[in-house]
Amino acid sequence: MSTTTTNPVFIGMDLGTFKTSVASSTGYRDVMQTAVGWPKDHLARTMLGRDLVFGKDLVDHRLALDVVRPFEKGALKYVDGKKAGMSDAQIKKHADATRLVVEYAVKMVNREAGRPSFGVIGVPARANMLNKKFILDAVDGVFESVAIVSEPFTIAYGMNRLTDTLVIDIGAGTIDICPLYGTYPDEKEQVTLPMGGDLVDEEFEKRLKAKYPNVQVSRNMIREIKERFGFVHDLNESATVQLPVDGKPMTFDITEPLKGACQTIVQPIVAAVREMIGKFDPEFQESLRHNIVLGGGGSQLKGLDRVIENSLKEYGGAKVTRVTDASFAGAVGALKLAMNMPKDGWTQLKKRK
Ligand SMILES: Nc1ncnc2c1ncn2[C@@H]1O[C@H](COP(=O)(O)OP(=O)(O)OP(=O)(O)O)[C@@H](O)[C@H]1O
Ligand SMILES: [Mg+2]
Repeated sequence: MSTTTTNPVFIGMDLGTFKTSVASSTGYRDVMQTAVGWPKDHLARTMLGRDLVFGKDLVDHRLALDVVRPFEKGALKYVDGKKAGMSDAQIKKHADATRLVVEYAVKMVNREAGRPSFGVIGVPARANMLNKKFILDAVDGVFESVAIVSEPFTIAYGMNRLTDTLVIDIGAGTIDICPLYGTYPDEKEQVTLPMGGDLVDEEFEKRLKAKYPNVQVSRNMIREIKERFGFVHDLNESATVQLPVDGKPMTFDITEPLKGACQTIVQPIVAAVREMIGKFDPEFQESLRHNIVLGGGGSQLKGLDRVIENSLKEYGGAKVTRVTDASFAGAVGALKLAMNMPKDGWTQLKKRK
């Protein structure tokens, strides 16, 4: 290694569809939306006093901003930009947004001028070569070296659950499922479902508007209601909220549309878990079923752990737990991986071309 790389700051990054969390070997951690806002016009720029907006300010000033979420609905991280119907100009804008988010996040946790950043970045378990190249290109110049790994694997690594464990990472864009049995998991054994919290939000909005056509609700409000009340079990749950109609707040019972929307991801998860477990040898199936870990923001959905357990009853029963810190489990695991990474595990970005 050259002298500039002898004293790196190691960074673990969970570059999510909805949010990016970062943790560094110098002890900082941060979480922000995976989004960049550009002021819409000259007036907005003057009011905001800057050309780029990140983090919480994106919500506060959203009306004055052109906000780009580069990985919305898993685009570019999992689905190719072209297949997601994006033009070359849009792909370029999303690539710029990705680099800006990564740059900003790294600045928040590597505050030591002159020390290069070595980053481990989580991507969907079944992200393809094009998706990985998109990330590598976008972070070139921000990191000196990177390693790209599967998102659920970072969670397992951080928890030291490298064997007899099945991790389900329920994100905004994708749900990633990864079995751990003591070696690096083979890509082919992992599953990425092209759905997650964004899809639940879309579904909830559709069902809510079908039931109450006059309610006024933004996607942000939809997400916040889901995060507060979302549930997937059948018993004793009800949710009422106040929403405006023609500007006047009224009370609505949203139990059914919310439950229906949250449940859309349950069957696909259950089907994928059953299929995955069925492929392992019988003795190992038992231990996998009894060590299922839910991570990602979607792991917080009320009742999801029990519903998955119940769905595996006739297969011999299961034990499902949640990560203790859904926001940082991936980033902290990625940081631990970075600090233990052998030299040949890194891709040195400058040398790539
Ligand atoms: N309490 C909650 N109940 C239900 N969903 C929640 C809750 N908290 C967060 N979420 C949802 O979790 C999703 C974000 O999860 P996470 O931050 O793990 O995703 P991500 O890493 O950005 O996405 P991905 O891993 O797909 O790229 C959002 O859809 C968010 O609304
Ligand atoms: Mg994620």
